[in-house]
Amino acid sequence: MLPPADSVLWQKNFLLGAATAAYQIEGASSADGRLPSIWDTFSATPGKVLAGDTGEVACDHYHRWEEDVALLDMLQVDAYRLSIAWPRVMTADGQPNQAGIAFYRQLLQALRARGMKTFVTLYHWDLPQHLEDQGGWTNRATAFRFAEYADMISRELAGLVDAWATLNEPWCSAWLGYGNGHHAPGKQEVKLATQAMHHLLLGHGLAMAHLRANDPSAQAGIVVNVGHASTTGSRAADRRAAELFEVQNNQWVLDPLLKQRYPAALWELWPDAQPQVEAGDMAIIGAPLDYLGINYYFRSNVVSDGGHGYTEVPLEGVERTQMGWEVYPDGLRHLLVSFKHDYPHLPPVYITENGMASDDKVVDGEVNDSQRISFFNRHLAAVDQAVKAGVDVRGYFIWSLLDNFEWAFGYERRFGIVHVDYATQKRTPKRSARLVQQFLAERRSK
Ligand code: NOJ
Repeated sequence: MLPPADSVLWQKNFLLGAATAAYQIEGASSADGRLPSIWDTFSATPGKVLAGDTGEVACDHYHRWEEDVALLDMLQVDAYRLSIAWPRVMTADGQPNQAGIAFYRQLLQALRARGMKTFVTLYHWDLPQHLEDQGGWTNRATAFRFAEYADMISRELAGLVDAWATLNEPWCSAWLGYGNGHHAPGKQEVKLATQAMHHLLLGHGLAMAHLRANDPSAQAGIVVNVGHASTTGSRAADRRAAELFEVQNNQWVLDPLLKQRYPAALWELWPDAQPQVEAGDMAIIGAPLDYLGINYYFRSNVVSDGGHGYTEVPLEGVERTQMGWEVYPDGLRHLLVSFKHDYPHLPPVYITENGMASDDKVVDGEVNDSQRISFFNRHLAAVDQAVKAGVDVRGYFIWSLLDNFEWAFGYERRFGIVHVDYATQKRTPKRSARLVQQFLAERRSK
């Protein structure tokens, strides 16, 4: 996995890191006063998660974090992206839970002591269940509860974080959580999804002010997922369908953040689903970002549904991953370049997630994940092309350090560069991890 000599990857200040999220790896779901989250409730509901898997044990990272830090240290990655479980660190009456906070403090200290930069996400989908009981993100009050949490935890952990992210992929929280119901809390109403999105973004904006005040030397930003759409249809309506797909997946989130307004075309798709917006909200949401985190995975092919929307028509004969997602590196280059064009206020970008699932097996102590290696090489080349086209991309995080709880797909889908045997909790670095390690060693020696 040695990139060409002129690749941005060789620049020592281009961060190469690995990422995880609390609910997907920690387990210990009731240890030290951790409260239930919407994912505990959802995964305990029959039929919601493949094979009935839950995050109760996951990779047991809460107890094995030192071993996992040692893995990161062995790889010598520049940075580690993790998330804090809100229900671990805050009590139901809004007080700090010091036992939970101590876990993250020691983890961050250990990462820093080994020279790694720390990228910390405040919300990677694990809303405290007691807030969902009051309407969750459809309740405006939740935005203010989130800001209180951000205020508290950024005071507690100030000085240990290089880059804060308020939210991970608000599109997934809003759309999968409240729109199509594939994720917790499993609601299915477009109007709830648009209102949830508005409150997520409002919570983000309110939290940004606390992060800046409490930890001024850290960067503060947000992480969004983006998708690219093509169409194999030949009608103007099909081309419009591909545009509307990107409006729904990308602009719904990026326009409020970077233009202080929702894209008008969204209401072509959903004429009756405008959220309630109060005076001043959009300015709070559009507060300047130090960086934008972008998560990219795949392309979707769509055609017009004959009305105002689109339907997906999977392309035949393309390379796919264990998730069924198309491998399409050029989508990442394309999106980065188009965002630079569309958003004059685009801040510096980090690719905060990119990766793929494969059905990896340990054979004679080794995991040969050759499709993943090729996947990384091609996506990193796409990032390099975007940089050469003028996009300010400063780093790339592999999703994920470990095989982990892949939400509605449970443990079956393996995204890690380190294999996890869930019966024994044994970690086995895959060949991709070895190549990352070798590349970083080579870069340091230059
Ligand atoms: C994005 C999410 O942030 C992460 O939690 C998830 O595991 C990956 N996508 C793969 O689906």
